[in-house]
Amino acid sequence: MTTRYQAHLAIIGHRYEDAMAHFSLDAIVLASGEKSYYFQDDHTHPFQAYSGAQQWLPFTLGAETYVVLKAGEKPTLVWPVRDDFWHAPNPVPSGDWQQNWNIVTARKTDKWFADLPKKTAWLGPNALPFAVTCEGLKAYVDFAKAVKTDFEIDAMQQASLRGAAGHLAAKEAFLAGMSELDIHLAFLKASQQSAFQEPYPGIVGLNEHAAVLHYEHKSVQQLSDSRTLLIDAGANEHGYASDITRTFTRHADDFNALIQDLDTMEQTLCRQAMSGVNFRDLHQNTLAGIANLLHEHKICSLNVEEQLAKRIPHVFFPHGLGHLLGLQVHDVGGHQIDKQGTLSLPDEQAPFLRLTRTLEENMVITIEPGLYFIPMLLEKMQAEIPQHGCDMARIQHFLPYGGIRIEDNIVVKSQQPINLTREAFSSQP
Ligand code: GLY
Ligand code: MN
Ligand code: MN
Repeated sequence: MTTRYQAHLAIIGHRYEDAMAHFSLDAIVLASGEKSYYFQDDHTHPFQAYSGAQQWLPFTLGAETYVVLKAGEKPTLVWPVRDDFWHAPNPVPSGDWQQNWNIVTARKTDKWFADLPKKTAWLGPNALPFAVTCEGLKAYVDFAKAVKTDFEIDAMQQASLRGAAGHLAAKEAFLAGMSELDIHLAFLKASQQSAFQEPYPGIVGLNEHAAVLHYEHKSVQQLSDSRTLLIDAGANEHGYASDITRTFTRHADDFNALIQDLDTMEQTLCRQAMSGVNFRDLHQNTLAGIANLLHEHKICSLNVEEQLAKRIPHVFFPHGLGHLLGLQVHDVGGHQIDKQGTLSLPDEQAPFLRLTRTLEENMVITIEPGLYFIPMLLEKMQAEIPQHGCDMARIQHFLPYGGIRIEDNIVVKSQQPINLTREAFSSQP
């Protein structure tokens, strides 16, 4: 019986065979990359393998590991041997996956590449000099990565389960009055990872910090009045990410009412992530939805059309609705509309939109609307938009809460999309 991993290998193998035929190549090397050192120091930056190499293997890849593809042959894995008693041994992982591979081991000084054919291309960092330059190969293979195989979706489901467990622990830590650092530690413990294993540095913002889109600190201070927690954090399953955001508050107040309505809107958007839909249109719907919320919650007196004309929703929702998700949190190819690498770049309506493609079945994407009270943008609005219609006293009231983002991970389908995140939360014990 073909396993999901074998079916995955067959699909991506076919994609690369097509690329080799298209570019008349005899082989492609996918390199995981090498570790890099801090300046004048003897320890290394956290390492993450090049996603193009990681995609081929069902475990987390380390450095100096190479996947060699030749048309019509089993792929070859070049595995690094370490003669080194300073670090843990590094055996080739056991398992059924080996059936589909030629495995060779190589010391750093071994010339494992000596017999490669003349027309060998290289993808990944630090190309060796023998590799031919192949303009367009990267875009050609990146385009297809947006559509995930069942094996990849399984991995993201596991990453979602661990992410959801972490979020529930973080919520408890917030309700117990803990600091940002302790909330992050609670998240990491429950999602079973160290900070270096996170797919991206978790964002944990209390109160006003919830208005900083990529808030990067973790304060050790316990606040006597922690009102809001915005946590944007995920987990990682052999390289595949979950990317989840939740916003919690402590009291059933008007900020909480805003969270509930944004949550309802987010779920409606998630249900619209069907094949054939252009993501730019979903982003536009979101801007209209934000305008509606601003009106309903008496933050802005202008109607939806007036707000859109004056770009009021952009003040409160200044980022894109979402992005492709996979081995990279902002996965490759989001602006590409074909294998040739033609780009469809974001326009001024959505300058930060990372996904401009038409959705296809089994793409995995995030849906992450937000509504923030960001002093810099509010000041700019007051200075530059006449008759903005916003109630500045009401905004003043909301400023100490920071902001809201709600982010789910969605598998696009022709009818009903699968919400990996909501499923993961509802299956928690
Ligand atoms: N965590 C980064 C993002 O949501 O895009
Ligand atoms: Mn995201
Ligand atoms: Mn996120």
